[in-house]
Amino acid sequence: MRVVGAFRDSYGMEPAGVWHAPGRVNLIGEHTDYNDGFVLPFALPWGVTAAVSPREDGVIRLRSLQAGEPVTLATPDEAEGWARYVAGVFWALREAGREQGQKRGQGQEEGQGQEEGRGQGQGRPVGGADVVIDGDVPQGAGLSSSAALEVVVATALNELYGLGLTKMEIALAAQKAENDFVGMPCGIMDQAASSLGEEGKALFLDCRSLGTRNIPFDLASHGLQLLIINTGVHHELADGQYARRRKDCENAAKRLGVDALRDVTDLAGALARLSGDERRRTQHVVTENHRVEAVIGLLRAGAVREIGALLNASHLSLRDQFEVSCAELDVAVESAVRGGARGARMTGGGFGGSAIALVADDRVESVRKSVTGAYAERGWAAPEIYPATPAEGARRLL
Ligand code: GLA
Repeated sequence: MRVVGAFRDSYGMEPAGVWHAPGRVNLIGEHTDYNDGFVLPFALPWGVTAAVSPREDGVIRLRSLQAGEPVTLATPDEAEGWARYVAGVFWALREAGREQGQKRGQGQEEGQGQEEGRGQGQGRPVGGADVVIDGDVPQGAGLSSSAALEVVVATALNELYGLGLTKMEIALAAQKAENDFVGMPCGIMDQAASSLGEEGKALFLDCRSLGTRNIPFDLASHGLQLLIINTGVHHELADGQYARRRKDCENAAKRLGVDALRDVTDLAGALARLSGDERRRTQHVVTENHRVEAVIGLLRAGAVREIGALLNASHLSLRDQFEVSCAELDVAVESAVRGGARGARMTGGGFGGSAIALVADDRVESVRKSVTGAYAERGWAAPEIYPATPAEGARRLL
């Protein structure tokens, strides 16, 4: 394994272990996670592999086979750029350990707990580590290369420091790193998919209860493929716009007197009380949650071919109500459908990144041609197009 050779070259010893965490693609349920809603992503066959050894002196040494210079950090705060995703996980796990220590100090010990998923704070305090990272999730494609990076580090540290965290707690620690250390106010979807994904299955996640169900998603037996169309663009606006959408949703929920848009039961009544952006965002979130439930119903009934219309409806809603699409995504979706896809939509945060298209085996070539042709007509670089199947979530490899 390449990462092991690089670890030996960098640090002159064998790593204590090697872990892998995948990127994700979201089938449906977009911009619903931070509204306490439903999502249906799956883990991809591509991800981040990390060779790691613990260090008792607290120092973090990092090397990425994709990024330039190796980094040595005396504290997480010193990290810059990509290293902040890694350093943030050390920070989040150390914070959690400290909080747990304080609780214990106050005599609020948790009891047995671990089976119940209350293992946070067990084990040794999180020290430092030597780390080498190797990744193959296309960056900026909206396929959560950063969540994969966070989750692989959290999974490794969980084991090396005996923390006893559940897969969901690992995802939550990774999300905390991204929210409070990197400063991106993302929801829980990406980290949960990376940590909890299962081969051949999509992950249904209720983002309020954090309850999950693995839903069989076997495309091949239905003669179908899910194509990822990577637009290759990432509009700079993306991060600020994401925070603004979140705010719109929170404001709308406040105006409606509910904890989150998830709680809106009477959509028409809610829309009548809202206007402008808040009205449009609410319309999207509420109908998107319904679409997730409808897709699950169809998948359960074995009607995979029938989910296409819901994918199309999701895209229109993201384009017109949530306003997070862009020309490159719209052209990918429209040309895929024109080429014979059963349905298509943008996936992930938006403003670039990737679209997905559900395509029957015998239409794959015509969809490719249609999308590539539409891009060429506009003088845009050809998008990468490749099929995705649900893969296993984070795990130890060696
Ligand atoms: C990004 C975020 C997720 C989610 C999606 C939109 O990927 O990281 O938490 O909000 O956007 O569905």
